[in-house]
Amino acid sequence: MVSYKELGLVNSKEIFKKAIEGGYAIPAFNFNNLEQMQAIIQACVEKSSPVILQVSSGARKYANQTLLRYMAQGAVEYAKELGKNIPIVLHLDHGDSFELCKDCIDMGFSSVMIDGSHLPYEENVALTKKVVEYAHKHDVTVEGELGVLAGVEDEVSAEHHTYTEPDQVEDFVKKTGVDSLAISIGTSHGANKFKPEQCTRNADGILVPPPLRFDILKEIEKRIPGFPIVLHGSSSVPQDQVAIINKFGGAMKDAIGIPEEQLREAAKSAVCKINIDSDGRIAMTAAVREVLYTKPAEFDPRKYLGPARDNLKKLYMHKVENVLGSAGKA
Ligand code: G3H
Ligand code: 13P
Ligand code: ZN
Repeated sequence: MVSYKELGLVNSKEIFKKAIEGGYAIPAFNFNNLEQMQAIIQACVEKSSPVILQVSSGARKYANQTLLRYMAQGAVEYAKELGKNIPIVLHLDHGDSFELCKDCIDMGFSSVMIDGSHLPYEENVALTKKVVEYAHKHDVTVEGELGVLAGVEDEVSAEHHTYTEPDQVEDFVKKTGVDSLAISIGTSHGANKFKPEQCTRNADGILVPPPLRFDILKEIEKRIPGFPIVLHGSSSVPQDQVAIINKFGGAMKDAIGIPEEQLREAAKSAVCKINIDSDGRIAMTAAVREVLYTKPAEFDPRKYLGPARDNLKKLYMHKVENVLGSAGKA
């Protein structure tokens, strides 16, 4: 059993409280390799932002759970070396069982998500409560979820959104004791969040997706004032990066994300954690494709992973500064 405190990590309690009071959101960036980790820490240190490093079950399988935990421990030291001791949370993304959450807590995670959103309500309550009871013994914070996002969540996929029911949130929070709640108000995972036929075209011919359900968010905030809210599926799918991917041999079709202005708006409310993974994947892929396409003789991975890391860092700096508003809040 390793406590996250020994690793220099923090749980999400204090940073969420400050984020809600300050009208900004903490970035939750997924990582499963070295370059992503470097980009996240470099960007957040330079912008002086707190950060949540997220590990999914898929990432654990891909990269090895022990290596990822040591990387997070290394990230704390790396940030100091870069000159700023920013708050760093190591968070399990979309935990699907008590055992997985316990495993992560026991190996040094400071925060876990138990995603029982696909279960019947009472089962979601029971599972979340069980995780909270264990986590709180170790001062680890827990994120629960109510409502189902359309699209793919790890191995589970849903055709349509099931928006969070505001009438359930107070009961859920009370019964489970969770520290934050992920809700469904129109975001979804992946790079194809909307079908073109769901969108309208603006004067420049750009596809504009249906807006997030801020009305539901307001209702939820009324029921649990000041309680930390989380938005998953919050990539914006930058069209300039998608264009680079497609220019250099890629085939991303109908890739549409959540407009950044709407996320900025959400960050001003009780939304205090915004999850971004796909945008990072897109930024890395754009850079890798460009190098491999324009320099076909190149075979040193550092020559394409280095530019991918730089592009990723640029993206994260932009998110922190202009979308989440967490720059300068470390
Ligand atoms: O919510 C899902 C995250 O983007 C993680 O994706 O399960 O493919 O690692 P992954
Ligand atoms: P995106 O696919 O929109 O980046 O969402 C990531 C996420 O919610 C991770 O939990
Ligand atoms: Zn998610």
